[in-house]
Amino acid sequence: MGYADIYQASLKDPEGFWMQAADAIDWDRKPSQALFDRGEHMYEWYADGLVNGCYNAVDRHVIAGRGDQPAIIHDSPITGTKSTLTYAELQTKVASLAGALTAQGVGKGDRVIIYMPMIPEALEAMLACARIGAVHSVVFGGFAANELAVRIDDCQPKAILAASCGLEPGRVVHYKPLLDGAIDLATHKPNVCLIFQREQEKAALTPGRDLDWFAAQEGVPPAECVPVEGNHPAYILYTSGTTGAPKGVVRPTAGHLVALNWTMKNIYQCDPGDVFWAASDVGWVVGHSYICYGPLIHGNTTIVFEGKPVGTPDAGTFWRVISEHNVRSFFTAPTAIRAVKREDPKGEERKKYDLSCLRALYLAGERADPDTIEWAGKLLDIPVYDHWWQTETGWTIAGNPAGLEALPVKIGSPTVAMPGYDVCILDDAGHPVAPGELGAIAVKLPLPPGTLPTLWNATDRFKKSYLNTFPGYYETGDAGMIDEDGYLYIMARTDDVINVAGHRLSTGAMEEVLAAHPDVAECAVVGVTDQLKGQSPLGLLCLTTGVNRPHTEITSECVKLVREKIGPVAAFKNALVVDRLPKTRSGKILRGTVVKIADGEEFKMPATIDDPAILDEIREALQTIGYAKA
Ligand code: COA
Ligand code: AMP
Repeated sequence: MGYADIYQASLKDPEGFWMQAADAIDWDRKPSQALFDRGEHMYEWYADGLVNGCYNAVDRHVIAGRGDQPAIIHDSPITGTKSTLTYAELQTKVASLAGALTAQGVGKGDRVIIYMPMIPEALEAMLACARIGAVHSVVFGGFAANELAVRIDDCQPKAILAASCGLEPGRVVHYKPLLDGAIDLATHKPNVCLIFQREQEKAALTPGRDLDWFAAQEGVPPAECVPVEGNHPAYILYTSGTTGAPKGVVRPTAGHLVALNWTMKNIYQCDPGDVFWAASDVGWVVGHSYICYGPLIHGNTTIVFEGKPVGTPDAGTFWRVISEHNVRSFFTAPTAIRAVKREDPKGEERKKYDLSCLRALYLAGERADPDTIEWAGKLLDIPVYDHWWQTETGWTIAGNPAGLEALPVKIGSPTVAMPGYDVCILDDAGHPVAPGELGAIAVKLPLPPGTLPTLWNATDRFKKSYLNTFPGYYETGDAGMIDEDGYLYIMARTDDVINVAGHRLSTGAMEEVLAAHPDVAECAVVGVTDQLKGQSPLGLLCLTTGVNRPHTEITSECVKLVREKIGPVAAFKNALVVDRLPKTRSGKILRGTVVKIADGEEFKMPATIDDPAILDEIREALQTIGYAKA
């Protein structure tokens, strides 16, 4: 059967389709049915099955005779080290760490925060939680203590697993002081922190709370896999929403096992044993689905890469890793390819490596611009597949099902909807629009397995954010269109989320930080076009009456404040003082219009604007810092 038949079958008979896909997973108790309708447009998958995520990602491969196959290759150009863990070695390590967690009183349903850089121990930590049914929440290393504290208070972890430090080019990220700061700030306190001491920086342990990673494992029995219900949360992953408070996306165990396993062959063209590489970070959803769980569940070898596309040490790093480790499918963000292209436009570095192992390049996380796709396709002489998904879904909503049937690529489109996703384009009233017309992208409910059933401790917010606007549909927050051939095009976000270097950030969160500066009366953060990172945040500040300090002093304090409160990942480097902000008559800030002016694009004067003259003032102010060029 080709894509079209399989896709139609998944929509006509979701029960049959997903029960069959579930056969590829090892169950402690098979579910009696796939879909459970919980009312009010809420759904769960495989809820009465019993299963273990770690067993499926690790143990079953050892039992099946793959114990000697590499499970994880760690390649760190930052430290100049490489190492390999086989499935059998991974099983031993994970069972031992899970034993230490059990000995500390962590069990099924308890939350565990993981704050670790790109080292194999980060995956071991995730799998150890999965082994005992604990719910992990990985926090990206580029967030500041305050963001970590918010997550600690929201998910109330019994334990935190952290490394002593992370390594950015030319800079050690002091994880332990950040962790200590976060625990001080948080109201909830974890019982225990297990600290993995990296040789680049040994951290001071807090007596009575912190334990050394290995010391905690001494003398404790390894833990067995604990079967959990299919709807048991495997993890919580916080992502940016419209407001400053991050949303805790819940990932149900069984759905994610079934769905990720399905994607490894049908989207990523991998057979068990193949090497698969997603150059992302464990702190993002790509890291959860495609550095850790997806490849391991499917019996592939995954690569944990601690480095950057450029500068560690050069723009050939990606090609070296692919060639050296025999990577078959490679997944990264368009920003990373743009960074390589900027450094090495002629692709001289690529010529140094034999890349005959590589079958396809997969791009996601942000819009893939045609130039980047074409440049990469020519350089590598392989198909380049854009695919579109979100933290909320955990796997591809629209992509090219290349392992099932490679569809013709239309540059600018991530191709077509994947099984189970009934993607529709709706107008403001919620009516489907004609092919080729723009609208809000929504997915008819139920979503397929592996997608979020709710937000952690926030069912009302879940309904408000995703279900209420278009009853019977999941609102993606993206706008776009579907053409006559069923190809989807993603054009823009419909909310205040921006995408910087493939990282999803909330302008609302940055505005909350800026508004707390004593001299700032009002502010707006917008995402302006950035040639490398896609978008970059720009803050417009209106000062409190009577403040007459130099503007540069205030803007640099604001830049520092966002870095301190949200973290370096916000990449907030530009702020500008303006007299007034453009608003509608009802007081809504016209952020979209500001972006168009900053980008030097044509725009239609908003009919509801309060005072059109402000736009000229804004344009002139933006020109002083290099934006709004004609
Ligand atoms: N821990 C601590 N700090 C981190 C971090 C981490 N894990 N990751 C990034 N940062 C810091 C960076 O050091 C940088 O700090 P600086 O302001 O002191 O320079 C800041 O956060 C912004 O990082 P980033 O936006 O990634 O920019 P960069 O200049 O360091 O690198 C690229 C530019 C293009 C090389 C980089 O953005 C990249 O590799 N992008 C790929 C994106 C990606 O894989 N996204 C995942 C989604 S699929
Ligand atoms: P995240 O949850 O961090 O993965 O971010 C998801 C958001 O990133 C989506 O809602 C889109 O706005 C954007 N995005 C991800 N992949 C793509 C893509 N292939 N094309 C366009 N936008 C994308």
